[in-house]
Amino acid sequence: MKTPRKFYEPLAIGAPAPYRDLPVRVERMIHFVPAHLEKVRAKAGDMAKTVDVILGNLEDAIPADAKEAARKGFIEMGQKFDFGDTGLWTRVNCLNSPWALDDISEIVAAIGDKLDVIMLPKVEGPWDIHYLDQLLAQLEARHGVKKPIMIHAILETAEGVKNVEQIALASPRMHGMSLGPADLAASRAMKTTRVGGGHPEYKVISDPAEGQARVSVQQDLWHYTIAKMVDACQSAGIKSFYGPFGDIADEAACEVQFRNAFLMGCAGAWSLHPSQVAIAKRVFSPDAKEVAFAKRILEAMPDGSGVVMIDGKMQDDATWKQAKVIVDLAKQVAAKDAEYKALYGF
Ligand code: GLV
Ligand code: MG
Repeated sequence: MKTPRKFYEPLAIGAPAPYRDLPVRVERMIHFVPAHLEKVRAKAGDMAKTVDVILGNLEDAIPADAKEAARKGFIEMGQKFDFGDTGLWTRVNCLNSPWALDDISEIVAAIGDKLDVIMLPKVEGPWDIHYLDQLLAQLEARHGVKKPIMIHAILETAEGVKNVEQIALASPRMHGMSLGPADLAASRAMKTTRVGGGHPEYKVISDPAEGQARVSVQQDLWHYTIAKMVDACQSAGIKSFYGPFGDIADEAACEVQFRNAFLMGCAGAWSLHPSQVAIAKRVFSPDAKEVAFAKRILEAMPDGSGVVMIDGKMQDDATWKQAKVIVDLAKQVAAKDAEYKALYGF
C-alpha cells in the first residue's frame, strides 16, 4: 500500500503531477466513433460540437485488419480538429492484445496533449491500472505532455466486478468506470445475446389467485452491477457510467436503461448512434421540475441545517445534500448548454 504522499507523486521524472480532484466536466454521453472509416472521421469535428465526449474506438467492433487504420485515423482526427471543451477519449485494445502497446505509445506521442482519457477494456484488477499508470507516466515524460492523461476502466469481466473497489482506488489517474454489459454477460455465463437492457425471461411473477391472470414484470439484469460500480466509484471520488445499449431501434428501452443508471448515480452513458446522443442528453441533464424543487430546498435552508416543510414534504440536512447534488449538476449542465441554462433559469 502506498503512502498518501507517494500516491500523488508522478510515476516518472518529468511526467505531470496527477490530478488531486477530477476536472469538472459534463460527460452525459461518450460518443463512439470508428476512426478507421474516412467518412466518419471527416465529420468528427462537427460531431464533437454536439456531444460532451468524442471517443475514437480501437477495440471491439473494429475488424482485426483495420486496427492500425483506426489508430492512425484517430491520431489524424485528433490533430486535425479543435475539440474545444468536448472531451477527446480513445478506447484502446485490451492489454493482452497485440495492439495495445502501439495504441498507447503512438497516440500519446502524437496527441498526448489533446487526449483527455484512455478507456481501458477488460480490466480485471488494480494490476491492469498500475501497468497503464506507469506506462503513461513514462510516455508523458518522454513526449513532454503537460497534463495527466486519465484512465477510464470498463467493468466487463466477473473478476473485474469482484475487484471493482480496488480498481477504483488503483491510481489518481482514475477518471471513472463504465458498465460493459456484453463482455460481462459472456464472462459471467449469463444467457443473453443482448447488449445491455433487460431480458423478457428475467422477471418476477405474482402469486396465483383464483380468477385472476398472473402478472409478470421484467426485472433489471444490471441493477446489482450498477449499484456495486456506483458505490465503488463514488466512494473513490470518481464517476460511473452506463456503457452501450445495443438495440439502436428501441429508443424507449434505451431511455429507460439510461434513466435507471442516472437515478442510481451514473454521470452518463455511451452513444453508439446519433439517435442515442439526444437520449443521453435528455436523461443525464436533470429534470427542470426537479431542479426547481431542489432550488427551493436550498433557498429555504441557507446554511444547510434544521428542518422545514415544503409542499408537505419534510426537508432537513440530508435532503439539503440531495438537493445540492441536483443543483450542482444543473449548474454544470447550464454552464455548458445554453438550452438547459434557459430551462433551469440560471
Ligand atoms: C462493451 O465493451 C461491452 O462489452 O458491453
Ligand atoms: Mg466490451
